[in-house]
Amino acid sequence: MRDALGAVQSVLVLGGNSEIALAIVDRLVASRCRRVVLGVRDPEGATGTVERLRSAGAETEAIVFDAREPSTHADVLDRAARMLGDIDMVILAFGVLGDQATFDADPVAAADAARTNYVGAVSTGLAAAARLRHQGHGTILVIGSVAGVRTRADNFVYGSTKAGMDAFALGLGDALVGTGVRCVVVRPGFVHTRMTEGMKPAPFATTPDVIAGTVIDGLQRGHDVIWAPPILRYVFGLLRHLPRPLWRRLPAG
Ligand SMILES: NC(=O)c1ccc[n+]([C@@H]2O[C@H](COP(=O)([O-])OP(=O)(O)OC[C@H]3O[C@@H](n4cnc5c(N)ncnc54)[C@H](OP(=O)(O)O)[C@@H]3O)[C@@H](O)[C@H]2O)c1
Repeated sequence: MRDALGAVQSVLVLGGNSEIALAIVDRLVASRCRRVVLGVRDPEGATGTVERLRSAGAETEAIVFDAREPSTHADVLDRAARMLGDIDMVILAFGVLGDQATFDADPVAAADAARTNYVGAVSTGLAAAARLRHQGHGTILVIGSVAGVRTRADNFVYGSTKAGMDAFALGLGDALVGTGVRCVVVRPGFVHTRMTEGMKPAPFATTPDVIAGTVIDGLQRGHDVIWAPPILRYVFGLLRHLPRPLWRRLPAG
């Protein structure tokens, strides 16, 4: 339950090694969040992060979570609720970028990415919604991408998974109106993380910490869609309506 000043006290991160999500968690912990559960494929590998968050003042545990195993997701939410009590926020941060050329040559790999990014979001989003509805409050924070606002030829498999995730999250948010639960979509542009290592930065590229600041600000303002950085809202307001022949000719990145 949020404290008397409205600060998030407990958070579950699905994709708990995500650099973007951890930058958000760092800010939440600095603002009195006291309990964190990280859902990760390999809890042993998250020991360093667990220790770091504990030293910052939050009771923290890592538990097993795999986005590609929908039948386990309700159990993950139950387990986190046993550790956290009420869950003030669930962050859906898992995702794979992949590579379009690899997907072109290997449709099974493309389907696997879709299973992680989109199917995983549907399953975890609904499991989180059921849990938060039951307690009567909470926020589901879905890390989408501007890549889903309009898909590009050079990464359309990834973009389409993010488009599906974004549409799902908007619909879920509408379905939750009046329940005390919110679903908020974040649409980051290019962020310097492990996911984008070695890639040419796109315009308005930024860091996880800057994204986290924008997300916290958007949450405080009650936004349901958070563009990060905020200028991308206007950039994509224009780009999404470009005629397709022009859109196709835009340089990659
Ligand atoms: N970086 C960008 O430019 C950018 C831009 C827009 C949106 N995003 C989105 O932001 C989110 C976080 O990305 P990030 O930049 O923070 O990259 P990241 O540090 O690489 O985080 C991605 C996370 O997804 C986890 N993951 C992948 N497959 C999984 C699975 N099957 N089950 C559970 N977890 C899984 C990874 O876990 P492991 O540690 O186990 O591999 C990793 O912790 C992603 O959804 C990404 O699509 C990123």
